[in-house]
Amino acid sequence: MKFFIDTASLKEIREAASFGILDGVTTNPSLVAKEGNVDFREHIRTICEIVNGPVSAEVVGQDFESMLKEGRENARIHPNVYVKVPCTVDGLKACHALSSEGVHVNVTLIFSAPQAMMAAKAGASFVSPFVGRLDDIGTDGMELIQELVEIFDNYDFDTEILVASIRNPLHLIESARMGADIATMPFSVISQMIKHPLTDIGNKKFLEDWNTVQGKKK
Ligand code: G3P
Repeated sequence: MKFFIDTASLKEIREAASFGILDGVTTNPSLVAKEGNVDFREHIRTICEIVNGPVSAEVVGQDFESMLKEGRENARIHPNVYVKVPCTVDGLKACHALSSEGVHVNVTLIFSAPQAMMAAKAGASFVSPFVGRLDDIGTDGMELIQELVEIFDNYDFDTEILVASIRNPLHLIESARMGADIATMPFSVISQMIKHPLTDIGNKKFLEDWNTVQGKKK
């Protein structure tokens, strides 16, 4: 399973990359906006220099022509850029056009299996179902992942399932058990994944025991 970080923060990306677990990065306009008034394309280029893997750069245009133009510009930033488009009619057209030109496309804001199938048929390299936001409205987000894994396996779609809007380590465990290809997580979830209270307690005890004996030796 590939681990991506869902952030535009260079500090968080550098820190997660130093753990040796990072396979890629996803950004979206909200995440980039959190970084202040940055030059978007320069920022994406810097991320591509930190992480050697797919880096999603989303378009903000809403009609086909603007998405195509922006998508082509984003794709030129670096070979690892995956152009992210929303799962709308125009987004689907842009996905088809860009992927026909050899550009990798990540279709985002997916909330149903038919949306994901449409994106896969239109040439998406990644589909991004948002599990947390489905949970937010009282729908089980993980059920969608189960459906997508089953459907994509049935028909050997090459499109990878990128589980997004992950809010906690349980989302990750379930995604991995179901066989999703990629999980993109905020830095807070990546940090939670490393921690266990028994590790901290055990580590403290090891150190205390060691120091007790060392103290006696003196
Ligand atoms: O990758 C999608 C993600 O950024 C959305 O997460 O927590 O805002 O639903 P969230």
